[in-house]
Amino acid sequence: MARKIVITSGKGGVGKTTVTANLGIALAGMGVRVVLVDIDFGLNNLDVVMGVENKIVYDLLDIIEGRCRAKQALVQDNEKKNLFILPSGSVKSSSQISGQQIKLIIENISPMFDYVLIDCPAGIDVGFHRAVSCADEAIVVATPSLPSLRDADKVLAVLASYKPDFIGLVVNRARGDLIMSDKMMMPSDIQALLKTDIIGVLPEEDAVFLSSGYSLPKRSDSYRAYKMLAMNVHKHTKKIFDVTYKYSGFFGSIRRSIKKSI
Ligand SMILES: Nc1ncnc2c1ncn2[C@@H]1O[C@H](COP(=O)(O)OP(=O)(O)OP(=O)(O)O)[C@@H](O)[C@H]1O
Ligand SMILES: [Mg+2]
Repeated sequence: MARKIVITSGKGGVGKTTVTANLGIALAGMGVRVVLVDIDFGLNNLDVVMGVENKIVYDLLDIIEGRCRAKQALVQDNEKKNLFILPSGSVKSSSQISGQQIKLIIENISPMFDYVLIDCPAGIDVGFHRAVSCADEAIVVATPSLPSLRDADKVLAVLASYKPDFIGLVVNRARGDLIMSDKMMMPSDIQALLKTDIIGVLPEEDAVFLSSGYSLPKRSDSYRAYKMLAMNVHKHTKKIFDVTYKYSGFFGSIRRSIKKSI
């Protein structure tokens, strides 16, 4: 049976969809079978981030309303044969869609996969509960900013009531130069503040934004950080990407001052 992991955050725009997509790509790169499920019915964009929007024939709504079977709505990734996307479909109001309906669909497709990654909408209302009720494990994404950390804290409290098998924290958009000059919180401080183990630290990087529809460049820091995150998820290792590696030592301080002056 597949591991079902919801990617959530509380605060919007911190990188849930980006993490769902790139973690899925990294896991699929390890040879396991992965499906990415978009449960953000309002602002669904996982298909666009994965570059498969033109391949969609059916979506979750079509399955719910009986126009197709779950398998027919799966869209294969453009590059990886063992990676699929289940798009959500856009509705004005998703209140009529229940968590139970989505859960049944996920249970139906999960024997075909090793991982089901569920992209959750922002907030902690109906959409959040619908997504979380379909998963056994949760990844909370937060950026190192106070509003995001406060919302992550609230989400962690609500998540606890679901008693998931595992909750891991991913710190996204971390900047080594700011951490070195004490202008951004260190991942270890965030871990202590939220009392949740960090399973990934992902750097702020243009490559992430530019990679929509494509895989991250293999030489990028983000590619390596996502590979470590995927290993931590899959093999339960505890390797965290060090975003400060470029900014320590003599050359590091030069890089820091160049960045400051840009
Ligand atoms: N590490 C990163 N470095 C640079 N840009 C990033 C990074 N992670 C995400 N982004 C950018 O941040 C924006 C928001 O990301 P994303 O859509 O994944 O957030 P989200 O949490 O899914 O948002 P929503 O709550 O609206 O669903 C996107 O433009 C994305 O490219
Ligand atoms: Mg999103």
